[in-house]
Amino acid sequence: MLDKISALQQEIETATASSIDEVEALRIKYISKKGKVNQLFADFKNVPNEQKKEVGKALNELKNCALEKINTLRDSFETKGSEDAGTDLTMPGEPLKLGSRHPLSLVKNEIISIFGRLGFTVAEGPEIEDDWHVFSALNFPPEHPARDMQDTFFIEKDPDVLLRTHTSSVQTRVMEHTQPPIRSIFPGRVFRNEAISARSHCIFHQIEGLYVDENVSFADLKQTLLYFSKELFGENTKIRLRPSYFPFTEPSAEMDVSCSICGGKGCNVCKYTGWLEILGCGMVDPNVLESCKIDSQKYTGFAFGMGIERITMLRYGIKDIRHFFENDIRFLKQFESAI
Ligand code: PHE
Repeated sequence: MLDKISALQQEIETATASSIDEVEALRIKYISKKGKVNQLFADFKNVPNEQKKEVGKALNELKNCALEKINTLRDSFETKGSEDAGTDLTMPGEPLKLGSRHPLSLVKNEIISIFGRLGFTVAEGPEIEDDWHVFSALNFPPEHPARDMQDTFFIEKDPDVLLRTHTSSVQTRVMEHTQPPIRSIFPGRVFRNEAISARSHCIFHQIEGLYVDENVSFADLKQTLLYFSKELFGENTKIRLRPSYFPFTEPSAEMDVSCSICGGKGCNVCKYTGWLEILGCGMVDPNVLESCKIDSQKYTGFAFGMGIERITMLRYGIKDIRHFFENDIRFLKQFESAI
């Protein structure tokens, strides 16, 4: 009996099939009710009692081995079957649909790369700030209107905790910790308590620039901004600086670029002036340097700050600032090719 079992086991183990029908035939031959395995089970009653234990064990092993063999053969044909039904495993895979960069990130990265070519590094600071970094160190007098609840989001319980209203707070942080030479830009999100409309939002982004060293002059500022404007808006771009006021720069200016849409001739984007205002700038006020423990007798510096939304709107002709924050896929998809 044991010989029969092991002969059958060998037969089953070496069996092959070249189609699913042949697998079925093997199944019938070996493990159906009248199959060879069951016939041996039927003979089991004739086995002498003292051999029953050993023979029973061998029979069970035979049965399991047969079941496994039939299943493996069947599986191999089933996967092959779906291949035959049209899946060519050698074909390149379906491409994964990637998202695209947000237009604000595209423009931010471009600005970072332009200043990178001039040797500016990138630094960041916290969005939740304190009065010192956003206002006091930057020479804002205590009664300055920007400190008003009207413009700034304060934490009610502790008015010393606020959301930064400009990235100039990163100037403070960098100058507190680094002695000149400093040549960095600071991109980041800022918050102002403003009504949301097509032109303004309570959340937006800025890029701040800071250059502090010996003998930094207004001419350096002007040349840096001219290079930047030509790189961003095109070689024919002109700039003009108009006197302005910021507590942390002296003298201060606002910079316009010649309108990149009409080339300066006048259109509805530049309101027929030929110029677009894009940033505020100036020479770092010596009081600010001193607040940050930098020797204002030895060092001078310039700073500038611009809104990324405004530049992106000009760049791509976007009419409503709210598009940037709505995450409407139809809007975002338009920048897929711009990566
Ligand atoms: N922080 C100013 C603003 O938010 C911009 C600015 C930065 C002006 C640096 C001068 C120097 O409008």
